Amino acid sequence: MRHLLSIADLSKPEAISILDTAVELARVSDGAVKKLPTLRGRTIVNLFAEDSTRTRISFEAAAKRLSADVINFSAKGSSLSKGESLKDTALTLQAMGADAVIIRHSSSGAPQRLADSSWMQGSVINAGDGTHEHPSQALLDAFTIRKHLGKGSSDLQGIKVAIVGDVLHSRVARSNVLLLNLLGAKVTLVAPPTLLPVGVESWPVAVSYNFDEVVASVDVVMMLRVQQERMSDLFFPNAREYSRYFGLNSERLALMKPSSIVMHPGPMNRGLEISADVADSARSVIVEQVANGVSVRMAILYVLLAGQPLEVGGN
Ligand code: NCD
Repeated sequence: MRHLLSIADLSKPEAISILDTAVELARVSDGAVKKLPTLRGRTIVNLFAEDSTRTRISFEAAAKRLSADVINFSAKGSSLSKGESLKDTALTLQAMGADAVIIRHSSSGAPQRLADSSWMQGSVINAGDGTHEHPSQALLDAFTIRKHLGKGSSDLQGIKVAIVGDVLHSRVARSNVLLLNLLGAKVTLVAPPTLLPVGVESWPVAVSYNFDEVVASVDVVMMLRVQQERMSDLFFPNAREYSRYFGLNSERLALMKPSSIVMHPGPMNRGLEISADVADSARSVIVEQVANGVSVRMAILYVLLAGQPLEVGGN
C-alpha cells in the first residue's frame, strides 16, 4: 500500500491490520515516553487547503510520535491563497523531499490527482477531499466502535450503526459507509430526503426518514454536522424543525439501548444536530474519538511509510 486515498482501496485484511497496529501504538501513546523512532529522518507535510482542527493536529501528533519531521502548510499564509496550483505546490513539496503528504482540499479528487501525477513521489494521504472521502476518520471511528462493542472479534460483524444528518455533504459518511460495510456492520442512514445524495439506493445501507424508529435498535448513533458552509440552497425549514426531527437530544438518548454509544466526528453544532447534554453525557465517546485518532493516524503512517503492520501482541 503506497497511498490512502479512499476506503475503497483497502481490503478487509488491510483495514484490520491498520486497526490492530493502532491498538499496539495506543499502548505507546498511553505510556510515559510517547515517542517511537520508526520514522526518524522522514519528512511529512501536512497540506491543509481547507480548515481543520482535529484532523490536522492529530496527524501532526501522530507523525511526531513516530519521530518524523513535520512541515505544516496551510492555505492561509501560503501561496495557495495566492492561487498557486496543486501542481506547483506538489513540485515544491517534491523539491523539499517530502516522504508523505497529508492533504485536505475542498475539491473532491485532489488527493487522487496528486497521487496519479508525476509531480511528487511520496505517499499521499487523504485527510478529507470535498464531499468525497475522509478515510482516516472512518478508520478511527471503526477503531472506537471495536473498542466499545467489538467483543473481542476483529471485525464489526452484526453491529448496527445509524449515521444521522447531513449525509449529502459528508465525506465522513461516505468513508464510514464503505468501511463499516467492509467490516460487516449494518448501516442505516437517517436524514431528511433533501440531505441524502442522489444514487443512495445503490449504497450498501438501509435508509430511514424517521430517527425515532431507528434510535432504539442500533448499537451506535453517529451524528453528522450540518455543513452550512456547503449549503447554497435551503435544505430544511429552520434549525428548530431540524433538531426536532433529526437532532439527538436527551429524550432520544433515553430510547437507546443501554450499551449503545454516541459518536460525532466534530466540529459539533451544539443545539442543532446534538444537544449539549448529550454531547457531554456518559454515552458520548466524542472526546475519545479524538484521542483514538492519534493512534489510528500513527498506524496509517506506520503501515504506509514503515511498510509493514506491527506484530500484534509484540512489544
Ligand atoms: C469532518 C470533516 O472535516 O470532514 N471533521 C473532521 O475531520 N473531524 C466532519 C465535518 O466537518 O463535519
